[in-house]
Amino acid sequence: MSDAAFIRLDGVSKGWGGSVGARELSLSVPQGAFLVLLGPSGCGKSTTLRLIAGLETPDAGRVLIDGRDVTHATPAERRLSMVFQSYALFPHLSVAENIVFGLEVRRVPRAERMERLERALELTGLAGYERRRPGELSGGQRQRVALARAVVADHPLCLMDEPLSNLDAKLRHSVRQDIRALQRRLGMTVVYVTHDQTEAMTMADIVVLMRDGRIEQAGTPAQLYKFPASVFAAGFVGSPPMSLLPGEALPRPPGLALDPGAVTLGLRPECVRVVAPERGMITGVVRESEFLGAETFMVAVTPGGSLLTARVPGDPGITAGVTVGLAWDWADLHVFDRATHRRLRGATVPAGGDVTSPVGATSSLEFFTSPAAE
Ligand SMILES: Nc1ncnc2c1ncn2[C@@H]1O[C@H](COP(=O)(O)OP(=O)(O)OP(=O)(O)O)[C@@H](O)[C@H]1O
Ligand SMILES: [Mg+2]
Repeated sequence: MSDAAFIRLDGVSKGWGGSVGARELSLSVPQGAFLVLLGPSGCGKSTTLRLIAGLETPDAGRVLIDGRDVTHATPAERRLSMVFQSYALFPHLSVAENIVFGLEVRRVPRAERMERLERALELTGLAGYERRRPGELSGGQRQRVALARAVVADHPLCLMDEPLSNLDAKLRHSVRQDIRALQRRLGMTVVYVTHDQTEAMTMADIVVLMRDGRIEQAGTPAQLYKFPASVFAAGFVGSPPMSLLPGEALPRPPGLALDPGAVTLGLRPECVRVVAPERGMITGVVRESEFLGAETFMVAVTPGGSLLTARVPGDPGITAGVTVGLAWDWADLHVFDRATHRRLRGATVPAGGDVTSPVGATSSLEFFTSPAAE
């Protein structure tokens, strides 16, 4: 992955009458990167992908691929391949015919077609299936055919729109790894759309979290997790999500210059400890306990009626209705402006730190008193 921008969106907007898909989007995708567009339904992920693909023309702004202005170029002129949720395979053609279909259209000579087919079959683990029809394949195998079709095209850029959403959870997990391995091996630049934060976090070099046609936050998975730029980002990334509470729900954080009523506080489940009631910073009544084998997620109701989730190793054997103590390190607290919903501080970002490029850890709380600095 090099720093040179392979794809650049420059203030791109796209709307249809009342609805908006993209609002002045600016984005750059480094060559060889695996970039994931993440966000809830209707936030503009597919629109953004389609703008890159050339399936939509922007109302304003420019699209550049590999340094070339392709804003008004056709999809074919952009040298990219696409993989969609629906595999879009021809049911009456064999696996092999489906894979090389595009090459035939482009009049690639037969010998070269066969060579590329062999390689694509091998790379996607489909060798031995080339004579089957799509109807004789599992969902995962069909998706591999769609991948093979992208691979065989030999384009430097591949766009994928929710390619795994028709697969069951287990298969999704393995195909996810296959796609990532394939992308690395081929050195392709990939823009991948999903609404599944786990998929985004596990696959992406860069996550672009979208909301309402805009970029809410862009960064590495770790940056989004550790330094969510807003209440929205904090709630969207992480499973189960960060607990978000009104400032009054917890004891006053040391050094907080603002009125607790002006802030929203956030704690990730793994940062909350369950202790004896008298040893807790607050008490909570267990509302539910979700046992997952290696760990249990326990949701407790605070005295003020807010919910705080704690991750406890193993099975603590604490049932609903029990009063527990809850404790945390203040350094793990996330603070958001309740009016703007933007992040004011995170434990390890120094004053003025850029949330998308966090600097080293600090235990200082001094920036806490100057929230405007961020
Ligand atoms: N062709 C169109 N005509 C009118 N509105 C459209 C069109 N395409 C998209 N939109 C609108 O643009 C917004 C963004 O749509 P988009 O398909 O990009 O969302 P998405 O993030 O991909 O959602 P999902 O996760 O449900 O696929 C939505 O409000 C949608 O209704
Ligand atoms: Mg979509």
